Amino acid sequence: MWPVKVLMAHPAEFQVSYSINPYMKDEAGNLNQVDVPKAIKQWEALRDLFTHLGMAVQVLDAVPGLPDMVFTANQSFPFVNAEGRPSLLMSRMKSPFRQPEVEHFRTWAMKNKIQTYELKTSGNFEGMGDALWDYEAQEIFGGFGPRTSVEVYDQIRELTGKPVHLLKLVDERFYHLDTCLCLLGNSIAFAVREAFDEEGWSFLRTHFQTLKEIPLKEALENFAGNMLALGRQQIVMQSGAHQTKANLEKLGYQIHEVETSEFMKSGGSVFCMKLLYF
Ligand code: ARG
Repeated sequence: MWPVKVLMAHPAEFQVSYSINPYMKDEAGNLNQVDVPKAIKQWEALRDLFTHLGMAVQVLDAVPGLPDMVFTANQSFPFVNAEGRPSLLMSRMKSPFRQPEVEHFRTWAMKNKIQTYELKTSGNFEGMGDALWDYEAQEIFGGFGPRTSVEVYDQIRELTGKPVHLLKLVDERFYHLDTCLCLLGNSIAFAVREAFDEEGWSFLRTHFQTLKEIPLKEALENFAGNMLALGRQQIVMQSGAHQTKANLEKLGYQIHEVETSEFMKSGGSVFCMKLLYF
């Protein structure tokens, strides 16, 4: 079952004020400059598109000092627990800059009667940035390495009762699994080959009936690997990834292109900017 609920966080405090991934600095080594009014316009357009596509959108207020809170995919992992209750496993962000974001999501969950769980291990976990649902196959793909520690997936297996397929991320430009693997349902996936080791790539090739490769250039310049499927028909993606878009259209998808250039300056795009929850 595909979720219809979306949580976003307002970008009023969005900035690039530290660098924790290869996208946050320019060629001269300076932190990227964000145009905040432009970022707000791009974010509002994405929010309005979600609403237009029938999603129920909730918005968290911006918090001063937490510029990356807009990337609401990262602070938790949504699932339905054994009693059938909507639940979140709370993250432990790798960067100390981002760790204080998590409590705001915990508070929101409690207010919304969503059960929260805490990590049992000492490792890091960055929510649905690394733990991706195949909502149709009812399986989870778990990226690990740059941000998330592999051992957290034992707890995810236990909590969800679902299979978890582990995928090692080997290229720092693809520091979250959601930058390089898109699960579209119906045994279709798009992925960036460079992000995976031999073993991971051959697993993906045999696991899906259709696996399409996302060209490296489009993954880096257009964050094509960060596109979002909303059900079997609709894809929301950063504009400009022509090859990927053509491949999607051949498969019959309806594509909604958006502009996320200000957020790409922080290393994130569409998939990162929302939490799909139950
Ligand atoms: N600046 C943020 C970070 O490095 C970007 C997060 C992007 N989120 C994502 N799900 N890929 O943590």
